Amino acid sequence: MRAKPQLTLAHQGAVTHTRRGRATVRSLIGDDPALRAAYRLCRRTARQHDPGIHALIQLMPAVLRPACWALWAAASVVDDLADAHEGEPAERAARVEAWAEALTHDLAAGTSTDPVRHALVDTARQWRLDLSGLRGALASTRSDAHGLRCTDWAAWRARCNEELVPWVDQVRQLFEQAGAPMTLRLDRVADYEQFIDGAQLTDVLTDLSADLAEGHLILPQEALARFPGAEADLLQRRWSPAVAALTAELTALARRRLSRPAMTRGMHPGAATVLDTAGALMRAQLDAVEAAGCTLLQRAPRLSVVARTRVLVPARLRAAMAWSMTRVTVPGPRPPVVVPPYPSRAADDSEGLCPPPPHPDGFRPPQVAADRMPAHVAVIMDGSGRWAEQRGLPRPEGHRAGNAAVREMVYGALEIGLRHLTLYAFSTENWQRGPEEVTMILETLRRELDGGVFRKLGVHQRWSGRSDRLPEDLVHALRREERDTRGAGLTLTLCVDYGGRDEIVRAAAALAQAAREGEVSPHLLGEDDFARYLPHPDMPDVDLLWRTGNEQRTSNFLPWQASYAELYFTPGYWPDNDRRDLWQAVLEYGRRRRRHGAVPAPLPSPENHRPPSRAQPDHGR
Ligand code: IPE
Ligand code: IPE
Ligand code: MG
Repeated sequence: MRAKPQLTLAHQGAVTHTRRGRATVRSLIGDDPALRAAYRLCRRTARQHDPGIHALIQLMPAVLRPACWALWAAASVVDDLADAHEGEPAERAARVEAWAEALTHDLAAGTSTDPVRHALVDTARQWRLDLSGLRGALASTRSDAHGLRCTDWAAWRARCNEELVPWVDQVRQLFEQAGAPMTLRLDRVADYEQFIDGAQLTDVLTDLSADLAEGHLILPQEALARFPGAEADLLQRRWSPAVAALTAELTALARRRLSRPAMTRGMHPGAATVLDTAGALMRAQLDAVEAAGCTLLQRAPRLSVVARTRVLVPARLRAAMAWSMTRVTVPGPRPPVVVPPYPSRAADDSEGLCPPPPHPDGFRPPQVAADRMPAHVAVIMDGSGRWAEQRGLPRPEGHRAGNAAVREMVYGALEIGLRHLTLYAFSTENWQRGPEEVTMILETLRRELDGGVFRKLGVHQRWSGRSDRLPEDLVHALRREERDTRGAGLTLTLCVDYGGRDEIVRAAAALAQAAREGEVSPHLLGEDDFARYLPHPDMPDVDLLWRTGNEQRTSNFLPWQASYAELYFTPGYWPDNDRRDLWQAVLEYGRRRRRHGAVPAPLPSPENHRPPSRAQPDHGR
């Protein structure tokens, strides 16, 4: 896609370029000349390619700027690889893929020979960013190299969000790590998405001439169809009444989407200033689009210095004041984040499934006899909040760390040959938590889904839960993974906004409706008939229900399916678990004797041949 994540990427805060700021940046980057040159290149790229972005980054505390330059430069490089003038689409897609693979390698190595990746890897290390969330964006950019045509606004929006939001999320992570969270209240998420749409639309309008020169028209058919003849005129770069009406409508639409005063309410004032300034700059850019008239098809309209100054001067003052109230903290390096391999081109073929990555210490699964193997293990992944609190970290850190344990469980389930794994990620009761925590849990989950970690493992991913209260992008991601993952081996069900009672009530409602329509007869109803109305009627009964986090309750999890499950409670907090704990749970299950209300079959050991009787009291007890 031609339009870059321009203004949207730098949705952030402020501070003027002070002498002290420079000293802080120097101490952050250190004396490595290659690294300093890499960051300088990133800054130059931002300044030259997009003065708006550069100005927004200048509104941030000096210590955060290098990271933003690196993120922006990386997003820009990837976009250019997909957009480059020369080369067939397949070649361009391969270039994006090669870049993503090189990043995986560089992250593991902790350094890079490519300056932009070098700065990015260092940024991830210094700020403890989890770059795995970018995989979805990279995959989406890769497929964009083949051209992007969307039929309607919903598809256009989904596509833009897939490509842009993960980069913006990195900046949000950065702010969080710095102690100045850009937390978005859940009720403002829709505003935020509209804002991103508005930013994307502003970029599309600004870059119209360049895109048309390459034969691209990044607008949905739905928008073009409203103005007959506009598409053909645009492709021939002919300014006509239809084109004028179309651009006027799109400009007004972008302006509406960028006017979201409620979005930044409750946010850190520094972050809010930058977001508000981004909106103001883009609205000024839309003025330039309007003023351009027919020249819009010849060259990109640029903001005048006067217009930019009018927005930026008061913003600098506001930002400086806002940031002076916050001590920005640099978390400092930790071992580089190792991102699981980026799906390779070969793995795109349906038969090209990959085995799970081995346990880092080489542990292998135990051999389990088929009759000792549970068919379905369900896990209440509890204790992530306490895990973080115990380490003096904010609770969201615990939820993020919990993702690594989720991956481990899936790898372990595949290795041991489990058929069904169901994970409780967010309950219908979890809405009672503070909006910041809820937002973080759901966003962390969405980012993880966008990474598509399980796609190439032969895992069929499913979702169980309510769809009417979750953010749209999360619902989209859950449905996409459900649609796009196939696998004969393991069915992984994620329970998100799931409640057992809610599920039963919904089944009962569907059944009542069917009875009213004469499809079922109430007096003939059996358990199986009822189960057919559950949202996932084919989910097998749970054999083993495992809860981590030192609590012994089932918290509204799968009451129907787990009514005869073996219960297993472990003290460790969820993020401290890995695949070996799942194997341990499976072994424990193998030692249990299940009765299902019947008399147990005698064990073939000697004492079982002599059952205690009334006539022979058991003196041994
Ligand atoms: C469980 O971890 C995960 C979710 C509810 C999303 P918690 O957040 O409940 O962690 P603790 O129980 O507070 O430690
Ligand atoms: C259960 O954990 C829900 C999930 C793990 C998603 P909670 O921490 O929310 O449960 P309670 O509040 O301890 O029962
Ligand atoms: Mg809990």
